Amino acid sequence: MFPQRRLRRLRRTPALRRMVAETVLTPNDLIAPLFVREGITEPQPIASIPGVSQHTLESLRQEVRELIDVGVPGVILFGVPEHKDAEGSGASDPDGIVQVALRDLRDAFGDDVVLIADLCLDEYTDHGHCGLLTPEGLVDNDTTLDRYAEVAVAQADAGVDIVAPSGMMDGQVAAIRDALDEEDWVDVSVMAYAAKYASGLYGPFRDAVDVEIAGGGDRQAYQQDFRNRREALEEVRADVAEGADIVMVKPAMAYLDIVAQVRAEHDLPLAAYHVSGEYSMIKAAAANGWIDGDLVALEHLTAIKRAGADVILTYLAKEVAQTLGG
Ligand code: PBG
Repeated sequence: MFPQRRLRRLRRTPALRRMVAETVLTPNDLIAPLFVREGITEPQPIASIPGVSQHTLESLRQEVRELIDVGVPGVILFGVPEHKDAEGSGASDPDGIVQVALRDLRDAFGDDVVLIADLCLDEYTDHGHCGLLTPEGLVDNDTTLDRYAEVAVAQADAGVDIVAPSGMMDGQVAAIRDALDEEDWVDVSVMAYAAKYASGLYGPFRDAVDVEIAGGGDRQAYQQDFRNRREALEEVRADVAEGADIVMVKPAMAYLDIVAQVRAEHDLPLAAYHVSGEYSMIKAAAANGWIDGDLVALEHLTAIKRAGADVILTYLAKEVAQTLGG
């Protein structure tokens, strides 16, 4: 009976499997999220994201050097300021930590690395929300847009290639695009966190940026509800219409249905963010000897690419690029 072993024949040897592999992950697919903290003299390890640290300017430069050397094309920066306030002023201060880091990295590496900056207020506000609050304590969409416009221009002035708005305010991409164009930053791109879910998987990240949401609150009034799929497609369409250059789905593994559907519907570059909790689950299980961490890391990232992502933001970037022989 001829069909009997047909599907297994091409799995017999590693060379045969390599020959027919549909998805090949390379270091070029990866972007490393990096934390830079103001006012420290030694890098501070982040307990809940093992292997990842809050950097000083100097250790940040070293880390970016190593990423370039293993073939990772870009980094996304998150700042941890010394002082937080209601408006998140550090986010747009020309001397704010991310702006200082952008200038420093541009000086050191020129165009050898794509510099991306997360564009949000939560790391900089004393209440931990992604926007400005109304007197009633709600996140105010439109005044927040004005702040995002200021942050975008400050990051552009400091040399960013791509700004990445992650606050999930309505109209944020249009507001940022307008502000950039107005200041002649027409070549600065926008990578929109387009479909960003209110997820339990961001827990370790909030340790990394010292964010606690006031009153034990959450972000469900602006980030998406994980029960919804069609809503994500509406979010992506809105961001594309507003001028996004790259759209992102976040988190990744539990949202590959969204990644696949956005891929089917749009032809822009598509990013997916393998977030802190996804990383930490791999590391914790591996530390217990319950899974092979290296294998699962490669499996996760390859699956994200297979689902349709072109760009993967991941804390695994350096180690996986190393094993891929970058
Ligand atoms: C907001 C932002 C968050 C992450 C990236 N940008 C946190 C949040 O929305 O609460 C999470 C990333 C991760 O968990 O790795 N500035």
